[in-house]
Formats: sequence, C-alpha cells, structure tokens
Amino acid sequence: MLRVIAGLAALTVCTTLVWAQNPAAIDQRKQAMKALAGALKDPVAMSKGEAPFDLAKVQASLKAVQETAAKAKGLFPDDSKAGETDVLPVAFDNKADLMAKLDKLVADAQIAATAIKDDAGLKAELPKLAGNCGGCHKAYRKPKS
Ligand code: HEC
Repeated sequence: MLRVIAGLAALTVCTTLVWAQNPAAIDQRKQAMKALAGALKDPVAMSKGEAPFDLAKVQASLKAVQETAAKAKGLFPDDSKAGETDVLPVAFDNKADLMAKLDKLVADAQIAATAIKDDAGLKAELPKLAGNCGGCHKAYRKPKS
C-alpha cells in the first residue's frame, strides 16, 4: 500500500513537471531573440563595410532592438524553464539580474541612437551594444556544443 502511494506521488510530480512547461513562451522568447539578431544585421553589415552607412536604417534597427528587448522581459515566466530551450535554469534564480540586463540593452540602444551620427559613430557604438548580447548569453544561455 505504501509503495502504491509513493508511486502515485511520484506520478503526480512528473505530471506537474510536464504541465509546468510553457512551450508558447519559449517559442516567443526564441522569436524575440531572432528578431534582435535580425535587427542588428544591417548595422553590423555597415560596420564591416559590406553596406553603405545609412542613418535611417540604423535608427530603425535601434528602435527595433529597444522594442524587442522590452518585450523579452515578459518572456521568461517561471514555467518556461524546461523544454525545448537553451536558457539555463540559473536565469530563473537571478530574475532581477536577467531583467536588469534587458533594461540595460534597451538603455544602451537608446544611447546608441543618440550617439550614432555617422559611420565612425556606428563603429564605436555597435560593439558596446552587442556586448549586452554576449554578456547575457554567457551567463544564462547553454553554450553551443
Ligand atoms: C537578458 C539576457 C539576454 C540578452 C540581453 C540577449 N539574449 Fe539572446 N538569448 C538569451 C537566452 C536565455 C537565450 C536562449 C533562449 C531559449 O532557448 O529559450 C537566447 C537566445 C538567443 C538566440 C537563439 C534563438 C533561438 O532561435 O534559439 C539568438 C539568435 C540571440 N539570443 C540573439 C541575441 C542578440 C543579437 C542579442 C543582443 C542584441 C541578445 N540575444 C541579447 C538571453 C539574452
């Protein structure tokens, strides 16, 4: 009888874990991240000299980064820890830091939007902005194998 109860309890725990997954949030999070990378594509090409400097395009990209990073703050609910995701569980233990990192990305995109006036400004500001991406990935994303 005890064994049956223990078995039932274990089953309940497993079911809860499965139910605790939120594939929609995980999917939206990945889409938001892809959108961030997509937004930086033009400015990166310009900074490498692969495309001519275009201030309007840079401004549009930085606006997209701000909006997407702000949106990403809502895409780390606690039930999106497990499943098809590369987020490290520790990110959910450090939620305040995670949110601060996204706030900083928004703020730095605003700073860059004001600071960048020409090609030289882009080359100076873009690495600072992109440092936000790598910094958070290093802390909270599974390393790519
Ligand atoms: C606050 C932390 C944080 C910041 C800042 C951040 N990322 Fe991410 N990024 C993540 C996490 C966590 C994942 C893993 C998401 C998952 O698999 O659920 C990820 C995944 C990604 C992915 C892979 C998405 C996929 O389809 O699996 C790309 C591309 C990406 N990020 C680009 C960027 C770019 C570009 C920036 C900067 C403009 C950026 N990220 C800033 C945390 C961050």
